[in-house]
Amino acid sequence: MTNFNHPPFCGINRKADGETKAERQLATFHDNPALRHHWHAVATEQEIKAGPVARTLLGEPIVVYRDPNGTPVAAPDRCPHRQAPLSAGTMDQGVLVCCYHGWSFGANGQCVRIPSAEPDFPIPRGAHLQCFATTQRYGLVWVCLGEPAADPPSIAQEEDESFRRINNPVQVWRVSTTRMTDNFLDIAHFPWVHTGTFGNNQRRLVPKIALEELPGGFYGYDYSVVAENPPAAELSSGQDTTDVARRMTTGFHLPFAVRSTIDYGNGLEHILLLLSTPIDDVTSYFTFVIWRNDDFRVSAEDLAAFDRLIGEEDRTMLEKIPGVLPLSHGALANTQADKASAAWRLRFAQLLGMNPAEGGPA
Ligand code: FES
Ligand SMILES: [Fe+2]
Repeated sequence: MTNFNHPPFCGINRKADGETKAERQLATFHDNPALRHHWHAVATEQEIKAGPVARTLLGEPIVVYRDPNGTPVAAPDRCPHRQAPLSAGTMDQGVLVCCYHGWSFGANGQCVRIPSAEPDFPIPRGAHLQCFATTQRYGLVWVCLGEPAADPPSIAQEEDESFRRINNPVQVWRVSTTRMTDNFLDIAHFPWVHTGTFGNNQRRLVPKIALEELPGGFYGYDYSVVAENPPAAELSSGQDTTDVARRMTTGFHLPFAVRSTIDYGNGLEHILLLLSTPIDDVTSYFTFVIWRNDDFRVSAEDLAAFDRLIGEEDRTMLEKIPGVLPLSHGALANTQADKASAAWRLRFAQLLGMNPAEGGPA
């Protein structure tokens, strides 16, 4: 018999039959019915002003447009007539006109015109769009494919006149939403990934993390960091010292919202809502919203540009990691710095109806 070296840690965390049932479940998380009952941010209000937009939400192609009253409408991106993509159509005074035969759709997806039919021809019942629930919040259009089980996350600064809101366009990341949420809850990567923005001089040792309920229904932790403050960051920090002390909280709101609050200790607060939406298991929309109680001297564009740079550092890192973040118990090695991520993984698995006895997350 050949003598071979057996690494001592080979096969740890692995059941004899390879992947666990929980991992198999998660491999298709985007079509889990539970996610259809939550709100997902799919577009900025600005993006749907110009015309209908095509999105894919939880694997489902949808069209989003504004009706004559400015209310967003979301529906399957398939015309009821011959299934042409409605997102390829045009807007005519708040009515969406299909590009194939001109059938037109208004408020609530109601078919209001069939150009090929006599004016007195009754519009068939099946000509109307089967719309999904929509809502507008924080300059974003949110869509729920089922019955909404909860409200979108609540951000108190939206009602506070000392804060301004800055929106950012929706991007497509070639990253699983599970990995994005995990990353946004993680501060241990700052000195490794954010070396071009604020992370260079940051301590690599992560202070002890204590999880708690945070305002607005978020769950996470409160911590202090000393961040590098290069010239590009000075606009955002409002300070010109080499480093800046930041008191922060980071927490999640199921399924995929993460909020980070930054308090610079001089009265300036900078709130970030990071929103990831599954297109499918391994592709996501990403947008973020900033609230900030500054004196408006720095332009919204300059502030957003710096935070977008930080986002690009995360995206570059995450696009190197294929597949879905494993949820099953023992599939990932953790330290106390990963506590928030572990808590999210547990609650997310429960939301999906995964059975912890079959290998729920750590
Ligand atoms: S397919 Fe849309 S009008 Fe015919
Ligand atoms: Fe990051």
